[in-house]
Amino acid sequence: MLKKVNDLLQEISNISVKSSEELESFRLKYLSKKGLISDLFDAFRNVPAEDKKEVGQKLNLLKQNAVEKYNFLKSGLLSTEEISEGNDLTRPAFPFSNGSRHPISIVRNEIIDIFSRIGFTVAEGPEIEDDDHVFTKLNFAPEHPARDMQDTFYISRISSEDSSPEDILLRTHTSSVQIRVMQREKPPIRNIFPGRVFRNEAISARAHCIFHQVEGLYIDENVSFADLKQTLRFFATEMFGKETEIRLRPSYFPFTEPSAELDVSCKICGGKGCNVCKHTGWLEILGCGMVHPNVLEACNIDSNKYTGFAFGMGIERIAMLKYQVNDLRLYFENDIRFLDQFKTAF
Ligand code: PHE
Repeated sequence: MLKKVNDLLQEISNISVKSSEELESFRLKYLSKKGLISDLFDAFRNVPAEDKKEVGQKLNLLKQNAVEKYNFLKSGLLSTEEISEGNDLTRPAFPFSNGSRHPISIVRNEIIDIFSRIGFTVAEGPEIEDDDHVFTKLNFAPEHPARDMQDTFYISRISSEDSSPEDILLRTHTSSVQIRVMQREKPPIRNIFPGRVFRNEAISARAHCIFHQVEGLYIDENVSFADLKQTLRFFATEMFGKETEIRLRPSYFPFTEPSAELDVSCKICGGKGCNVCKHTGWLEILGCGMVHPNVLEACNIDSNKYTGFAFGMGIERIAMLKYQVNDLRLYFENDIRFLDQFKTAF
């Protein structure tokens, strides 16, 4: 009996395991109810009394060693399994998701960057404005339809019938910031005005009641329509690529004279005509013109001495053309599946 116990002590100290199956066999063989050690405890009853003390001590030692060995093997196995399961212990504790910028921010930053290269600096103004800065000083006639409740969100109106320069409203364009800058500064003025604007429109794939604009203003002596055209050509080719062509179509805005709309050649079909450009080969991207003398005078700028040009574009529209997004509402819904696609742009 004593020899058997000593042999087992030796045997157990030499055992190593490589898998949880081998560990379980170890437990079954030595430590389970029907295991070898349990058998020895059963046999202990028949050990002669004079040997009981010595054999008993050895048997207890054997059991203790077997339990310790089992725990030791188990902990060794756990740590090797953790590593072999592909857990890289050097990696950070949490997975980092870097997120991405919103496409409107990406395009706004790009527009600002392009104009800053030719000397335009950013100016900003309030979203809650008065009629004076949004309409009156921009040469809108008192009965101009843009002043209608149907187009403009009013916060407070002096009279329910007529509009008044003191009416408080959400700006419908960032041209209001042009007025604020002209009132504040002397020419030369060379600014761009990025910002959020509001119009009372039904929400659809092509229209939204909130959107973003970047407008621009350049006032100095001898500023001409040719300067406007070159500035816009520079912008179009920087934004849409060197081979982009531009064309100006006559248009009307109360605050510019003459006024025009700028089209760029359709990048998608290369000008041949497709669904995006409605088979014209051209895409309208902005409104522009020479600042109306009435606007300059309303801001105390001498219209005999100074001339200037202004332009304004919707960021959503530029982003739609750049990324071929076909529904304006996607910009406002915060759907991660949409936003995730702009990860590489910044
Ligand atoms: N303010 C005009 C708009 O919101 C855009 C524009 C700006 C047109 C400057 C001409 C000159 O539609």
